[in-house]
Amino acid sequence: MVPPIPMSSKDRRKRVVAKPRIFSGIQPTGGFHIGNWLGAVRNWVALGNAAKESGKDAFFCVVDAHAITVPYEPKDLRVRIEELALDLVACGIDPREHTLFVQSDVPEHMELAWYLAAATPMGDLGRMTQFKDKSDGKDFVSTALFTYPILMSADILLYKATEVPVGDDQLQHLELARETSRRFNHRFGGIFPEPQPLLTKATRIMGLDGDGKMSKSKGNTIPLFDEPKAFWKKLQGAFTDPNRKGREDPGNPEICNIYTMHKELSTAEEQETVVKNCTTAGWGCYDCKMLLHANFEKEVAPLREKRKSLNVIEVREALHENSKKAREIAQETIREVRESMGLGCGLPR
Ligand code: TYM
Repeated sequence: MVPPIPMSSKDRRKRVVAKPRIFSGIQPTGGFHIGNWLGAVRNWVALGNAAKESGKDAFFCVVDAHAITVPYEPKDLRVRIEELALDLVACGIDPREHTLFVQSDVPEHMELAWYLAAATPMGDLGRMTQFKDKSDGKDFVSTALFTYPILMSADILLYKATEVPVGDDQLQHLELARETSRRFNHRFGGIFPEPQPLLTKATRIMGLDGDGKMSKSKGNTIPLFDEPKAFWKKLQGAFTDPNRKGREDPGNPEICNIYTMHKELSTAEEQETVVKNCTTAGWGCYDCKMLLHANFEKEVAPLREKRKSLNVIEVREALHENSKKAREIAQETIREVRESMGLGCGLPR
């Protein structure tokens, strides 16, 4: 076989024109909560449906290899992967329409992460705020937790994704993926596009305790598929504008987590009513939460029913089929990357 012709510096600088493609991921760590849904997955569904109309690909991934970066129980992980896949399907990610799959079923994610690690300065990883938060005060901090953002870059770049719907806590990681794409292209040739983040209006849902974002690891969440009573109980106790100490104190909706959610779920008219009644103390926070709960119920009740009706075996088989489809694209990218980096014996694997 004739060895590949080395790339000229002009080729290396060429602009990458990639097919528009959506990619996003979610970790199977703990219950799927309203922050995941409002900040990301509801947008996945909308973008996925629009993508179908325009013939664009959409890849959605249960990122199990990310979930092993912190201590975990293997037997729980398998259950969580399946539970999360069911949650996503119930939310409207149809695995027959979109490539919904499990990350570690496509080993090329881990392979590309290693190659990208060679082009990622350690200093960039040390600046990641999620690493600082998750490692702070822990006895055991895995190397994988430190290199986690490289695996996330690999997830995105493996499929040459151009659009990545996420909540704002992932923006720093996404910026690293963009930087990695530029750095790699400059050093080895134009392979990767620069992925763009896509945010919702509820890009950061705060925890029920008001202490930072809603997060599985902090236990301050409302699981999306909680039954209405349990859901309401949690929402009722949720932190609001701290200046509304009593019913008669007017509030500022712009700093209230409940209003952030109204912006996604309530009509323009209802939002106006909320603003008026919050700023004049016409309503107490209880009234505002009641309306929000009713609007959650309108959307979530059918999803809850759908979730109960799903067939686990069928979903598992769809994930398996989709991983084969994802692998075809992944292997092609890996082939290009290996060639451009000068790896291997020169013959196809
Ligand atoms: P993860 O599993 O923590 O969260 C999944 C998605 O939900 C969003 N999200 C939120 N949005 C608003 N408010 C919140 N309180 C909130 N909590 C979570 C997250 O921003 C995310 O979009 N590293 C990622 C998973 C990942 C990924 C990827 C994402 C791995 N590879 C490639 C995109 C592309 C994570 O831990 O998300």
